[in-house]
Amino acid sequence: MSAPTPLVHIPGTLPIRTGPQHPRCLGLGVVGLHEGRTLLAAMDRCTAIRAVAACDTDEAKITACRQRWPGLHYTAGFSEMLARADVDVVAIYTPDALHAEQIIAAFEAGKHVICTKPLVNSVAGARGVLEAGRRTGRRLQVGQSTRFFEPFLHQRAAFERGEFGVLELADAHYIHRMDWYYTKSPWVAKETDWAFLGLSHPIDLLRWYLGPVATVQAFGSQSAMGRRFEVAGFDVYIVNVVAQSGAMGRAMGHYGVHELPSARNCIELMLYGSGGTSLAQYHDMRYIHTAPGPAQREASTEITEDHLYAGRQYYFNSEVHGMHYGEFANYAEAFARSILEGTAAGPGLEEGIETFCIMEAVRRSAEQGGRVIRTTEVASDVFV
Ligand SMILES: NC(=O)c1ccc[n+]([C@@H]2O[C@H](COP(=O)([O-])OP(=O)(O)OC[C@H]3O[C@@H](n4cnc5c(N)ncnc54)[C@H](O)[C@@H]3O)[C@@H](O)[C@H]2O)c1
Repeated sequence: MSAPTPLVHIPGTLPIRTGPQHPRCLGLGVVGLHEGRTLLAAMDRCTAIRAVAACDTDEAKITACRQRWPGLHYTAGFSEMLARADVDVVAIYTPDALHAEQIIAAFEAGKHVICTKPLVNSVAGARGVLEAGRRTGRRLQVGQSTRFFEPFLHQRAAFERGEFGVLELADAHYIHRMDWYYTKSPWVAKETDWAFLGLSHPIDLLRWYLGPVATVQAFGSQSAMGRRFEVAGFDVYIVNVVAQSGAMGRAMGHYGVHELPSARNCIELMLYGSGGTSLAQYHDMRYIHTAPGPAQREASTEITEDHLYAGRQYYFNSEVHGMHYGEFANYAEAFARSILEGTAAGPGLEEGIETFCIMEAVRRSAEQGGRVIRTTEVASDVFV
């Protein structure tokens, strides 16, 4: 079966994924073979990077992957994978609390890194990763999948064409019922915080559009489900941010929610600009926006683009609402091409760490009952 073709190409951001393998195609090693399997399965969409190795401490995960992709080198030892000369890029999909030490080890072994969201979940981890990245000069891409999902690509392209004018307000959320996740991955309740694990989607979207964030005010609570699974922090968050530019944004997360997906998709980004409004959705794949036109007009036509049936093979492997195949392929290919050809890719190390500082400010603000926190308060502990 030939690889599905991409739906959009934004010059400078997304690669062109048709044609033969890149002559200097990079070798990929994946660690963490639950979500990491998605990237392995998405490799047929890439031309500048190909899987060569995979790692997990769980032998059952290795056995399952070996059956599906027999040509890779498998190991339970991360350092063994790092020692391989054919691994140029390491992609990390382990529990949040392990990301920092694995990124640092990969940098020190001379590898470039893709790390899934959240990049890190502690100040010490953020500081260590930043220092190691600057010292080794290795490149990093944060796997912020939502940025690379079809409606969000269309929304961004229209924004960059200036169709919404000046951005005045951005409204993002990620809401998802997570009982299955606590059961599958017990580390979720105790070893991270939803300010990182969940809010990494909407906070990254706000940072992408608003630019550097100046202040954060957040409130948090525990849902009935969160209490049942004895979650360590909050699993319901509401966040207001003000950017250095003065533009405002808000983010919401709820991880014990009773879902109502036809009314509200689990990830959405609404942009209100001086010249128009737009909404991108995950996972229904809809992009809804005002028709481009003069900013001073009073009203405009509402346009709904539904990419689900055109995009489900590429993004969902033909499941109607499947895994993140297309987004993962998009960011892996963009990162590989940025290394090989010097094209743009992001979010990179510095932006990822800045987004961590916003999430940590959210966590602290909610913990302190909504105290307004300047992001520099966190950044001064990280960017030393
Ligand atoms: N949209 C997205 O981009 C997206 C979606 C889901 C999960 N994630 C992220 O992926 C990460 C993993 O989530 P998950 O749901 O796959 O978790 P998981 O608990 O299902 O899987 C983690 C895997 O890592 C392995 N592992 C643990 N310690 C290891 C070590 N020291 N060396 C090698 N392997 C080790 C485990 O055996 C397990 O197979 C999280 O950070 C999560 O936020 C991102």
